Amino acid sequence: MACHDGAVTQNSRVSRRIASIAESATLAVDAKAKALQAAGEPVVGFGAGEPDFPTPAHIVAAAVAACAEVRNHRYSPTAGLPELRAAIAEKTARDSGYSVAPGQVLVTNGAKHAVYNAFQTLLDPGDEVLLPAPYWTTYPEAIALAGGQCTAVPATVASGFRVTIDQLETARNANTKVLLFVSPSNPTGVVYPPAEVEAIGRWALEHGLWIVTDEIYEHLTFGDHVFSSVPTLVPEMADRCVVVNGVAKTYAMTGWRVGWMIGPTDVIGAATNLQSHSTSNVGNVAQRAALAAVSGDLEAVAVMRDAFERRGRKLHAMLSEIPGVVCTEPQGAFYCFPSFEGVLGRELGGRAVGTTLELAEVLLEQAKVAIVPGEAFGAPGYARLSFALGDDDLGLGVGRIADFLS
Ligand SMILES: Cc1ncc(COP(=O)(O)O)c(C=O)c1O
Repeated sequence: MACHDGAVTQNSRVSRRIASIAESATLAVDAKAKALQAAGEPVVGFGAGEPDFPTPAHIVAAAVAACAEVRNHRYSPTAGLPELRAAIAEKTARDSGYSVAPGQVLVTNGAKHAVYNAFQTLLDPGDEVLLPAPYWTTYPEAIALAGGQCTAVPATVASGFRVTIDQLETARNANTKVLLFVSPSNPTGVVYPPAEVEAIGRWALEHGLWIVTDEIYEHLTFGDHVFSSVPTLVPEMADRCVVVNGVAKTYAMTGWRVGWMIGPTDVIGAATNLQSHSTSNVGNVAQRAALAAVSGDLEAVAVMRDAFERRGRKLHAMLSEIPGVVCTEPQGAFYCFPSFEGVLGRELGGRAVGTTLELAEVLLEQAKVAIVPGEAFGAPGYARLSFALGDDDLGLGVGRIADFLS
């Protein structure tokens, strides 16, 4: 199943390439909710994929100090401050057991930029990428911008939102070059067990595929679920593996815009050339903040993780009580991804609601609750609710959804 329709509105002022790209649905929902809040509307936003905590104080202090240092007022190496690249290599060995050299790290403007760079660097026109669905809304667009084709491999609530090797093998063809893998997942909150991560890595190895593995939620796992990294479990994949990561979700640093990609030196060198002609170095003050984050301990991270786990259980329990809503318990990240199929096809708030797109619209207008419709993630009938918001808002928001749907 193709996951990017490439539809282009006829407009010679804008290139066909860019005209075919859709706005980020998650950012759009968040912007709409924030605009309504600013206008005085009591909107509860489940749209944002960002922690509600402030960035830990020692990280902010490092940035404040960095502002006063003249060396940070200048251009710095495109690939990142050498001390940050070294700290990221060390942190990667500490957190996922994957040993890499600092020269294998490229510091980017957030993990989103690392995803963009990775596909620009790996894909030629016609190359195909297997994309387990539901998928984060940016992947298909980044693949399309690189001239690649993406093939969605669908998983449902019934299959625990995990794809199987059989499904991947059925979707693979002679043009398949890359598998995009993400666990814990945005939008489903699923965490693949280590045995399945290893099996997927071995399958990719056997067929000469690359894996782009997005590890941005590595520290946010709940209960018995554990994060595992493909190149750690299948070391032979290191030569065809690009790891995407960043400080945004782990350290409540979404606004600082620091991420990175790790890969074989030829790929990192090529991606650095690309970045040298697009954004150059990431802002030095933000890099110094990221250095304090990744080289510090994980104490503040544990506190935030515990809060997310508690809120995730609460959101899951409350959603599961709503007739017609089916929700798997989140295993990681900070999202619930319930199916609303049981409530669609009805008249709600005086309007026929047949899709989750329409449901999200009517919920925002009438119940003052923002959710992201599953259509944004290749999964109509579902919706994503972030539980990275305060406990009171969370209870208030789900209560409104329940009242509206009854
Ligand atoms: C799976 C995944 N990867 C990457 C990103 C981007 O992170 P950043 O804010 O570092 O660009 C996000 C943000 O929502 C995400 O959910």
